[in-house]
Amino acid sequence: MDISSLRGATGGVTTLDAGFKNTGSCKSSVTFLDGEKGILRYRGYSIEELAEKADFLEVAFLLIFGELPTASELEKFHSDIKKNSIVDEDVKKILDAFPKSAHPMGVLSSLTSALTAFNPDSVNVESEEDLYNSIVSILGKFPVLVAWSMRKKSGLPLDYGDKNLGYVENILKMMFKVPNEEYTQNKILVDALDKLLILHADHEQNCSTSTVRIVGSSHAGLFASISAGISALWGPLHGGANQAVLEMLEAIKADGGDTKKYMGKAKDKEDPFRLMGFGHRVYKNFDPRAKIIKVAADEVLGDLGVQDPILDIAKGLEQEALSDDYFVKRKLYPNVDFYSGIIYRAMGIPTEMFTVMFALGRLPGWIAQWREMRLNKEPIGRPRQLYTGETERAFTAVENR
Ligand code: ACO
Repeated sequence: MDISSLRGATGGVTTLDAGFKNTGSCKSSVTFLDGEKGILRYRGYSIEELAEKADFLEVAFLLIFGELPTASELEKFHSDIKKNSIVDEDVKKILDAFPKSAHPMGVLSSLTSALTAFNPDSVNVESEEDLYNSIVSILGKFPVLVAWSMRKKSGLPLDYGDKNLGYVENILKMMFKVPNEEYTQNKILVDALDKLLILHADHEQNCSTSTVRIVGSSHAGLFASISAGISALWGPLHGGANQAVLEMLEAIKADGGDTKKYMGKAKDKEDPFRLMGFGHRVYKNFDPRAKIIKVAADEVLGDLGVQDPILDIAKGLEQEALSDDYFVKRKLYPNVDFYSGIIYRAMGIPTEMFTVMFALGRLPGWIAQWREMRLNKEPIGRPRQLYTGETERAFTAVENR
């Protein structure tokens, strides 16, 4: 086909790039990522330094507003979030209607979408003030929904948190507090969760973030866009991989710990099995988040006094993959999801909640990217296609078919 007929068919030239492997969808100043060198920076700060020195709320502020907050800015931000953390009592009726067997990602996505009905102001964001109010509102309410989605599964009554606690401390309390039992903060768990949330907080134009931006580009509200992002994150090729990794490691353990057998399955093109937690669209040397999480897994399990044979199986798989031609040739290395589930498990978080924890971490990134898209006045996202279907056909009435 020559270029002029292409122009005629599409109104311009259409580039076909399935999976958007080489297509930039926007300009962004939020997150820098160099997949060849394994560099990840939020607003110019290295992920290594932020994971070591910052806390999650500071990182959320940095991602959303572009600068690290001063002490008073951080205090006001946290206070505004706390003021906006009340979830309407009627949302509980929706939660009650879900079966206990419901996957918490489905529950979280539905409840986040339902929040739009209870917070109509969040739907039309016209001013900077509307935008700020939507941001602190979702940062306040989202952890409540996360905790409720976990308590729904365990059958525990809902917990409303404690406004005197830090953001991450409060999340843990809302998740784990058992009625009539003393609850004390465990610093090891708080630090571990803080670090994991920071490492997941943004990752430029991945599947769920692109979803949030494209939904928001139609001027749908922030909560509705985030609900769509949660659904995109759920899939096992994206955030759902953290649950899939642990299930895979469990299966290998139950099968006698034969890692070679599973390496073989992963390389067999007739077998749909993939080594979950390996490979990345952008990182082609190593995922810097995986390096930090691997060290953290050793530390957290050591601090908690947990000995988990699953960690040994994971390390064994990684070692084998590093010297295996199939994996080396395709540049397949452990990604962020490979070791995170081992830490979540040691913290007492159920496997089905792992992707929910990812969503909790990714929330500031989704917000930052959505805000940037609106402030940049980006046009509605609307990709084209190369049509491969039938050409024009005459309609045949049903009785003549
Ligand atoms: N196990 C075995 N083979 C793999 C794996 C894997 N985990 N990942 C990729 N490959 C192979 C593919 O079969 C393909 O082989 P081929 O060239 O012989 O056809 C080659 O490596 C390239 O893979 P693609 O699927 O084309 O790479 P893509 O960039 O589209 O996908 C993805 C990246 C989805 C992450 C993929 O590596 C994967 O499925 N990994 C497992 C799931 C996972 O861990 N997802 C989490 C990613 S991180 C995140 O989203 C938070």
